[in-house]
Amino acid sequence: MPRRARPVLAIASALALTLTACDGSSRQDATGAPGTNDPYFPKAGNGGYDVTHYALTLTYDPNSRRLTGTAQIEARAKQDLSTFNLDLKGLKVTAAEVNNAPARFHPNSDHELTISPPNPLNRNTTFRTTVRYSGTPDPITDPDGSDEGWLRTADGALALGEPTGSMAWFPGNHHPSDKATYDITITVPEGLKAVSNGELRREESKRGRTTFAWHVGEPMASYVTTVAIGEYDVRRSKTATGLPLYVAVDPNESKASAQVVARIPEIIRWAEQNFGPYPFSSTGAIVDRANDAAYALETQNRPVFPGTPDTALLVHELAHQWYGNSVTPATWRDMWLNEGFATYAEWLWQEDHGGDTAQETFDELYDHGEETYEDLWSFPPASPTSAAHISGAPVYQRGAMVLHKIRETTGDATFRAILRGWPTTHRHGNANTSDFTAYVEQQAPDEDFTTIWDDWLYGNGKPDHA
Ligand code: TRP
Ligand code: ZN
Repeated sequence: MPRRARPVLAIASALALTLTACDGSSRQDATGAPGTNDPYFPKAGNGGYDVTHYALTLTYDPNSRRLTGTAQIEARAKQDLSTFNLDLKGLKVTAAEVNNAPARFHPNSDHELTISPPNPLNRNTTFRTTVRYSGTPDPITDPDGSDEGWLRTADGALALGEPTGSMAWFPGNHHPSDKATYDITITVPEGLKAVSNGELRREESKRGRTTFAWHVGEPMASYVTTVAIGEYDVRRSKTATGLPLYVAVDPNESKASAQVVARIPEIIRWAEQNFGPYPFSSTGAIVDRANDAAYALETQNRPVFPGTPDTALLVHELAHQWYGNSVTPATWRDMWLNEGFATYAEWLWQEDHGGDTAQETFDELYDHGEETYEDLWSFPPASPTSAAHISGAPVYQRGAMVLHKIRETTGDATFRAILRGWPTTHRHGNANTSDFTAYVEQQAPDEDFTTIWDDWLYGNGKPDHA
């Protein structure tokens, strides 16, 4: 039956082609992984490429709650790529391009967006993806129950990203291991302000809308990106060393926050003496209303505070500019490298300003810590029980105690050198816990840190302490 044979053959060979594309053939090898295998958030981020720059152009109207965005993502392929993924949650993609040619796109489970470039990308080449999208962005609830992502506020919106909130408002490689520079341009109804990371390059009103263009020239992890839209009193100034400050305060918090916010230059100067040169091109703060968010966040350049912070919290979030934002954790398991240092910065500030010494803070925690933090000894800082625990007391308080144990062992001079040297060595990079322990051992080659690592950093239960 020659008349039938041909179509069957054609179908069979089409089938064979499809199969080749889907099982272990070379095409399969060219698929970018849908996650980075993070030990706590395995689907966060994607494999196969490294983003170098995001240019985000956003329009938001708090009345309709509608966000319209274009993301231009410049990246380098780390392998041959026939497809690759971006993370984006809850927004609808209307078009995608790769290297200016239309690309197929396919939203998968939950937050994976698969892009198929018209021509496969070769390993080690750079490429540009453009994604057009829109929708009404939502909060994302953490495994620990807290909300981030895109939060609605009394007078606008606030975007917070730790650990996975940033995929609620732009497509990207949302894992701390892939840092990039950014241009974030936001158009809002005239009368409102849009505050973000980096430096304000342009502010321009026309036809009832105002555009704010922000530029971030130093590498930034996506979890510390932010956009704050609303009514703000803005103060622009410079520190004595010429560092530009941009402070945006909700008018409801203006009075209450004036004194503490005025201490930013003094805190930065103190921090530079202790931690080394400030790693970014500008600083500041965003102070929103107390119930606009559940926690403060060290968003790059200018941390976000729900309500007026006290000095300790301001010190904590500014210390994160060195510990977390400049040297960034390689995975979410290394979170104690952020929080242990930022907490220790609070202890040091207190010690340097007539309060308890760090030794006294340590002793008090060791003797009575469970009364304030009931889970203080429930897991070691370098190994949180689960994704719900990465912001737990052992990560913050016991993380700071690890640093204090190092100080007891090395003495002050070497410890100070470690505090400065760690963020200097890894400036604008990523590091994990074993990078840190190796660094400490290298700085103090004659000391034995085995007990600190085994008992304080990785060990279960409350360590013995002489
Ligand atoms: N990392 C933030 C800080 O230092 C706090 C934070 C971010 C947080 N995400 C969280 C706290 C989730 C609890 C839950 O200060
Ligand atoms: Zn912190």
